[in-house]
Amino acid sequence: MMIRIEGVLDEEGVRRIREIIDAGPWVDGNETSGHQSRLAKRNEQLKQNCEEGAQAGRLVLDALGRTPEFIAAALPLKVFPPLFNRYQGGEEFGAHVDNSIRTLAGTEFRIRSDLSCTLFLEPPEAYEGGELVVEDLFGEHRVKLAAGDMVLYPASSVHRVTPVTRGARTACFFWLQSMVRSHEEREQLLRLDRSIRTLSAERGATDPVVIELTNLYHNLMRRWADA
Ligand code: NI
Repeated sequence: MMIRIEGVLDEEGVRRIREIIDAGPWVDGNETSGHQSRLAKRNEQLKQNCEEGAQAGRLVLDALGRTPEFIAAALPLKVFPPLFNRYQGGEEFGAHVDNSIRTLAGTEFRIRSDLSCTLFLEPPEAYEGGELVVEDLFGEHRVKLAAGDMVLYPASSVHRVTPVTRGARTACFFWLQSMVRSHEEREQLLRLDRSIRTLSAERGATDPVVIELTNLYHNLMRRWADA
């Protein structure tokens, strides 16, 4: 399941983060790559553990915390500290897979990557190419979103970023471990959550049917979630 979450950041939020990261130290994107990725990856990345990255990462995490649709879709248990990358002058990231387990160098922190997340930080009309292409059994899904919008996709999928032939593509990316490991179960919970919110807006939160469905939602969470 791929999900688009609009308006994680507003214009001011994007501008603030860009101001911080654009002034930061950018290095070869292979700083965080595994062996196979290294062969496919040509981009730049904001240096890990730099002050600018930490500051911008906190702003992203704050914004995610204020985005109910993100919480409902991802059901995050552990979120890897956000990273930032930039593609320009024909740079691309060929077909690859993300590591199943991500560790944070020098710490005990590690996650199983269930979902990969890309938060776009550049208006799509400002660059040519730079589409995120995610493969599944149906075929290819091409993603290029407005600045401030985010896509969540299964970390288990083969994916790539097409060459950026004009302008520059700047984005934030990270992985997360969900409380609900199964994509299928997580999707059912999201659909139920959306239905409850719609019904609640129509009938009010104290409507008996809304209460019963909310109870069902939480009981399914008890069955499927790790906390
Ligand atoms: Ni990747």
